[in-house]
Amino acid sequence: MANLVNGNDIFADARAHHYAVGAYNINNLEWTRAILKAAKDTQTPVLVQVSMGAARYMGGYKFVKDMVEDQVDSMGVNVPVILHLDHGDYEAALECIKLGYPSVMFDGHQLPIAENYQKTKEIVKLAHAQNISVEAEIGKIGENQNAASGELATVEDAVRFAQIGVDKLACGIGNIHGIYPADWQGLNFQRLDEIANAISIPLVLHGGSGIHRDQVERAISLGISKVNINTEFQLAFQQATRKYIEEGHDLDKEHKGYDPRKLLLPGTEAITASMKEMIQWLGTPSVDEISQD
Ligand code: 13P
Repeated sequence: MANLVNGNDIFADARAHHYAVGAYNINNLEWTRAILKAAKDTQTPVLVQVSMGAARYMGGYKFVKDMVEDQVDSMGVNVPVILHLDHGDYEAALECIKLGYPSVMFDGHQLPIAENYQKTKEIVKLAHAQNISVEAEIGKIGENQNAASGELATVEDAVRFAQIGVDKLACGIGNIHGIYPADWQGLNFQRLDEIANAISIPLVLHGGSGIHRDQVERAISLGISKVNINTEFQLAFQQATRKYIEEGHDLDKEHKGYDPRKLLLPGTEAITASMKEMIQWLGTPSVDEISQD
């Protein structure tokens, strides 16, 4: 049976040694296999995360947990795998805690800050009783798709949330989910630095796709330890699939180019290739290098 881990030791090590571990969203079976393959090939720890929408699409949180565990086993994945709920609301976080997800995010950013604080506190208590890691969010990262900058979290809120005992904190530092608009102003390193100086828990960069490598590396040097990636792999999958179809391979009846196992293969391989590049950007060390500390 696959041994999924909560990742607390890994992220603490990442924060202490200025590297990051990628948190890669899964959308289906191919995504799951592509991500686990990149982790196994590079022998690096991996966080596999599922959003509420993606879990619904795939058949629910239990199905996702069973599928990830079974894939880890059948692929012989021999690196730490952290299964994580991404942007869970209160009910989703409770359900995943009950199911034994090793790591959950409770995203209360849409709530008034006092309610976000209170609910995060409750989730931390329930999760920690089962050795489950908790990520919280402050600053509205998810809501700025068309803005030139995401909202900035305050240092004061970061300190208050860290005091509750959250294991990782996603702070808005100008980052945005999805494709960044052309006039995006970039990450706010001053705010990141202020927050990182005030709290020592691992910090999370959401909306990790499409940020220039220099900015990602600088953010990691300042305290970002988990970088969330979804759109990057969706675009890699889309471009490779588009190429396959534009080259007419799906029309090749003789070689059964229409078979989904062939049609979906270039996109799946593109995800693995894109993740291997991302691992270099993030400086994610191999499991051997981590255990040598
Ligand atoms: P992107 O889709 O912008 O990579 O963001 C992913 C993310 O932050 C998931 O929580």
